[in-house]
Amino acid sequence: MDNHVIEIINVTKTYNKGKPNEVTAVKDTSLEINEGSLVVLKGSSGSGKTTLLSLIGCQTKPTTGEVIIQGKKVSKLPEKFMNLHKRKNIGFIFQHFQLIAGMSVLDNIMLPLIPEGISSKERYRRANQLLEQFNLTHRREFKTSSLSGGEQQRAAIARALINNPGILLADEPSAHLDSELTSSLLDHISRLKQSGHTILITSHDPDVYQKSMVDHIFEMKNGQIISS
Ligand SMILES: Nc1ncnc2c1ncn2[C@@H]1O[C@H](COP(=O)(O)OP(=O)(O)O)[C@@H](O)[C@H]1O
Ligand SMILES: [Mg+2]
Repeated sequence: MDNHVIEIINVTKTYNKGKPNEVTAVKDTSLEINEGSLVVLKGSSGSGKTTLLSLIGCQTKPTTGEVIIQGKKVSKLPEKFMNLHKRKNIGFIFQHFQLIAGMSVLDNIMLPLIPEGISSKERYRRANQLLEQFNLTHRREFKTSSLSGGEQQRAAIARALINNPGILLADEPSAHLDSELTSSLLDHISRLKQSGHTILITSHDPDVYQKSMVDHIFEMKNGQIISS
């Protein structure tokens, strides 16, 4: 039986509703993603990829329709509970890594756990494990601004994993990477898929979506999924 970890049902997202600058970024879109799969959302700039990703990532609510993540109707939850669901279940890998430059690698990686009320002992335990896993132990106390591109990338992935999320979202993760970093990112993503994560990536980079590890490609145009 298919296990849909992400379900989008007739979702529309309109920004600035009723104003002259009203934009419908996602239009009556439905989508199902199976647990453990790797899905790429492609489409030209402005087609609605980031908006769809942020709906799935519980960063914004749909105007109409339902977003169901791990069986929970997150679009119906009050903001506070939606945020809680996000922090427990979703990891984000950002385009420019978005590490905090003035903070150490260790502190950056532990950051998502601060609002969780997790003991400092447990925070250090998890962070040290990830530092080891991503070969960053020797950079633990370094400021992230002093890291190489590859180290920053590994730190960003480690940070996305610190809350043990079932779902990982990455918005155009290879957009600013050279081919070597793109290929190492894809290696990491492939391993994360093998370890059971459900992964959704937006990309218009053929290096990303032509990979054999990709289970589905959805193409967006004008706020709708036109092909899969
Ligand atoms: N926060 C926002 N406020 C208003 N309009 C937005 C916002 N985010 C995106 N849009 C608009 O929604 C449309 C889809 O954007 P987006 O989801 O970012 O597409 P993509 O990621 O495919 O480039 C675009 O017309 C964009 O200008
Ligand atoms: Mg985008």
